[in-house]
Amino acid sequence: MNIDDVKKLTSSFLFQNYSREEICFERGEGEYLYDSEGNAYLDLVAGIAVNVLGHCHPSVVDTVCGQVKRLVHVSNLYQIREQAELAESIASITPSTLSASLFVNSGAEANEAALKLAVKHTGRSRFVAARNSFHGRTAASLSATGQPKYHLGFEPLILPAFEFIDYGNSEQLKNAVNSGTAAVILEPIQGEGGIIVPPADFMRTARDVCDDSGAMLILDEVQTGLGRTGKMFAFEHFGIVPDAMTLAKALGGGFPIGALVTSREISKTFVPGSHGSTFGGNPFVSAVAKTVISTIKADHLVERSAEMGRKWISKLGSLPLEKGHVDEIRGKGLMIGIEMGDEAKRLQKYAFAQRILVNVCAGSVVRLVPPLIVAEESIDRFNDVLMSFVSSSS
Ligand SMILES: Cc1ncc(COP(=O)(O)O)c(C=O)c1O
Repeated sequence: MNIDDVKKLTSSFLFQNYSREEICFERGEGEYLYDSEGNAYLDLVAGIAVNVLGHCHPSVVDTVCGQVKRLVHVSNLYQIREQAELAESIASITPSTLSASLFVNSGAEANEAALKLAVKHTGRSRFVAARNSFHGRTAASLSATGQPKYHLGFEPLILPAFEFIDYGNSEQLKNAVNSGTAAVILEPIQGEGGIIVPPADFMRTARDVCDDSGAMLILDEVQTGLGRTGKMFAFEHFGIVPDAMTLAKALGGGFPIGALVTSREISKTFVPGSHGSTFGGNPFVSAVAKTVISTIKADHLVERSAEMGRKWISKLGSLPLEKGHVDEIRGKGLMIGIEMGDEAKRLQKYAFAQRILVNVCAGSVVRLVPPLIVAEESIDRFNDVLMSFVSSSS
């Protein structure tokens, strides 16, 4: 089947809710995707910060093949060895207060569970979230998303429960949180909003105001978690620990899983019947996620992300790029944003023509979130393309 046949099926039988590129990939290996003619594309998108180990990593393939022959799904009505082992594995990489996991199937569901938990745990029902945030598309996670364009046509959701502050504004945060606040929910670095790293004091303030008011601090590590920013979790950059964090994306290395992670004590808020998911943490996806975590550790990918990110930002910074083309380069580890205004979409097209995949977020930011195994030559290749784009459009 060629690309035109795929497009025909897509337009006939699928919802038209995505703007899709003119490409259909047949296979992936490492940091490359291949089309049906065997052309290799350097993947600096990684399924939007999902494929941390690259495509079809041998350890994931082995786990998938072994597990699929043994046991794919049983209900949470039963003890699930793979799920229990995954939870233990998560506890081995988190601070000791984040030792209890609940598994769902996506980032939005993990945030949905976190917000429900906060209400039940505190007995309060109001939330504080940040403008320009992104937390997912379900009712509560969409309400927490501080971007009105995503709410349009779906109001009221549970928007009346939310108060929004400017991301990074500690004063506004202090004023917004009070004894009625169940939780403050924040991304430690905003992803969809344009790779925004908050000022150092902001996360500290978030921790302090939650401690003072009894609100829970929920950090959404769906995009930042598991090595992406050069630390296992992005909150480590700020020297704080949240009361709960949510994970997804990287956790399954491409298979759908999300997690809500909190303290043993807070986890007791949910009793049998409080929350649940048919697929959440089934044997198959749990076994895969456990392999993803063990591979990140064994291959030192957190350290690699920090080192490659440092190199990349420094190399980008030393390119003779004029303002007007590139306004800012920012990020941590292998979560890098290049602010380019209207040029961002044009660069995306230009890079695609050279078989490099990048993605634009917030309309003007070229987002670089490659697999954490990305080679230094690949970084250089992108930088060369950026330079030649800038030269050709000067
Ligand atoms: C920070 C953050 N939270 C939540 C989500 C939603 O995750 P999912 O699409 O798996 O529901 C995303 C997706 O981009 C995200 O970046």
